[in-house]
Amino acid sequence: MTHVRRARSHDHAEVASRIAARLGRAHESHPAIDASLDDERLLDDLATSPYWVAVRRRRIVGHLAGRVVDEGTPDAYWVGLDGLSYDDTAALATILGRAARVLWRDGVTRWHLTVPDDADEIGALAPYGFSPTQRLGSLARVDPPTVTGPGVRCRRADADAAELLARASDLVDLARGVRPSTSADPPDPTTVTWVAETDRPAGVAAAFPRLDQRGVAPRTWHLTTVAVEPDVRRRGVGRALVGTLIDDARGLGARGFDVSWDPADVVASAFWGALGFDGTTVVASADLVTPATSRWHRRAPGPPASPGGRSE
Ligand SMILES: CC(C)(COP(=O)(O)OP(=O)(O)OC[C@H]1O[C@@H](n2cnc3c(N)ncnc32)[C@H](O)[C@@H]1OP(=O)(O)O)[C@@H](O)C(=O)NCCC(=O)NCCS
Repeated sequence: MTHVRRARSHDHAEVASRIAARLGRAHESHPAIDASLDDERLLDDLATSPYWVAVRRRRIVGHLAGRVVDEGTPDAYWVGLDGLSYDDTAALATILGRAARVLWRDGVTRWHLTVPDDADEIGALAPYGFSPTQRLGSLARVDPPTVTGPGVRCRRADADAAELLARASDLVDLARGVRPSTSADPPDPTTVTWVAETDRPAGVAAAFPRLDQRGVAPRTWHLTTVAVEPDVRRRGVGRALVGTLIDDARGLGARGFDVSWDPADVVASAFWGALGFDGTTVVASADLVTPATSRWHRRAPGPPASPGGRSE
């Protein structure tokens, strides 16, 4: 019998070793996932943020740690790569079932779990309504793509960066079929922008150095935007732009690169794959269903989800 409860102080060390083991396994299949841990900081984090543990015969068989992010209405619950572990499907079903009830009660109606980009990991979440909404890919090839498109010149943007980024944001919105937003947020001060030009701006790319985060290697840069003007697509502009970004950012101290895209976007998937980015993690998202539907119990594979455990 598995039950779920809020973690207590004596759980932290065991959960910390579960996280280390999970990151270690993820690193084996995806070397870009960083398995190194600052043990003291991890224990501090576990001690200061509430999380759930699934317990069976006094042993922890799963944990779930996330945070509610204010995305307007409704709020969403985000779980990072270090925020979920489970020994088997019964542990997963039980911990998700308990969390769903509590989060629903707290007004959260959508949740996002980050897992390694493996079919088994993604498949394990599917029975609960989770499907991939974001793939994070890391540059896996040793040689960066540096092929330059004909007649294309790439340079780092300076005073024109904000204007170029606003245009790029419009192009991304248009590609997604949404109306371009009228008020683009000002770029983060750490964001660096590049532009590809022919006789005019033909494409824009931007990236920033990632902050320290578990699972992400130090000095990784995250590509935030890449967009090419529609009339010059499929001529190597995007490839040239990203190649320049990578070469240039390496000079600024970057050691690794990652980017995220919608897995349903076939162009983005083909583009990043062609440029040498392999999937490392996936964000699987689901609407939180009201516990009253008892969907959890019907859908859970293996032993039925246990409603046991103490109330919060
Ligand atoms: C994605 C985008 C930046 C690609 O720019 P681009 O200049 O057309 O790309 P390139 O010509 O350099 O293509 C490089 C490789 O990517 C792949 N690729 C690019 N566009 C593709 C498409 N429409 N279909 C299939 N593969 C494609 C190909 O493998 C291509 O190499 P090839 O032409 O030798 O076969 C551009 O389509 C765009 O701006 N889209 C809208 C914004 C967007 O979706 N940005 C990315 C979001 S994460």
